[in-house]
Amino acid sequence: RIAYVNGRFLPQREATVHIEDRGYQLADAVYEVWALFDGKLTDAEGHFTRLERSLSELRIPMPMSRRALTLVLREAVRRNRIRDGLVYLQVSRGVAPRDHAFPTQPVAPAMVITVSAVDRVAAEIRAAKGIGVITTPENRWGRCDIKTVGLLPNALAKQKAREAGATEAWFVDELGFVTEGASSNAWIVDGEGRLRTRDANANILRGITRHTLLDVIAQAGLEVDERPFTPDEAVAAQEAFITGAGTLVLPVIAVDGRPVGKGAPGPVAARLRRLYIERAR
Ligand code: PDD
Repeated sequence: RIAYVNGRFLPQREATVHIEDRGYQLADAVYEVWALFDGKLTDAEGHFTRLERSLSELRIPMPMSRRALTLVLREAVRRNRIRDGLVYLQVSRGVAPRDHAFPTQPVAPAMVITVSAVDRVAAEIRAAKGIGVITTPENRWGRCDIKTVGLLPNALAKQKAREAGATEAWFVDELGFVTEGASSNAWIVDGEGRLRTRDANANILRGITRHTLLDVIAQAGLEVDERPFTPDEAVAAQEAFITGAGTLVLPVIAVDGRPVGKGAPGPVAARLRRLYIERAR
């Protein structure tokens, strides 16, 4: 695999960053993940816009124009000869002697890009089976709308899920509502066949897949209710699913070991997954 690091393409095993990179020491960095279908970046503009927003919230300058970045991303994909996969991009504030406050002398942001392959056949088999999720108390900071690499609570939650034999963890806030998954947004299909997902506020990441799917749902003539739901409501729902660049639309068949609806993937999630993928291709 070929990685891009600060202006250079090189074999990934030779790609390194500085030990005083502020992303490494302080999680002072943001990232984006694009799904790659047939060599094409899915929802490219949406992810660019969110990247620009994350950077501006942290007051890190955009390392290059959107146009230039598009070319670099395309080149990274081309050099890896990967048609279906994920593109990861990370921008940190840069390298400076350790100090919590920003460097007083301007530093150049550090940018890294990697590309990995996804087996689309295996992904469809997984989607046909559905996944289990666990719930865990929300313990992240108040700015989950910024896509930072400060992912320790997410990593711990995902590990907890894996140890419980599940695939994703849903954070639950102090009011008992699901906020989102460790690396995805959470949805249900309620008793009336309406789609329900939490409104996009500072407590969740404004998923690009979520955003595009709202469009897909409207075109499919389905109704959406942007309101949070509890784990109990998910269990009582007809269907549940998650969305994200890594998972697309993935049915959830159990929450904390309790079956959702009939305990099998339902028609709505399957249809939305198909429509989303058709649009990405
Ligand atoms: N995760 N919520 C969280 C906390 C996420 O980390 C992600 C994405 C999403 C879905 O966002 P989008 O639809 O824009 O991918 C929601 C990426 C895929 C990751 O961390 O690998």
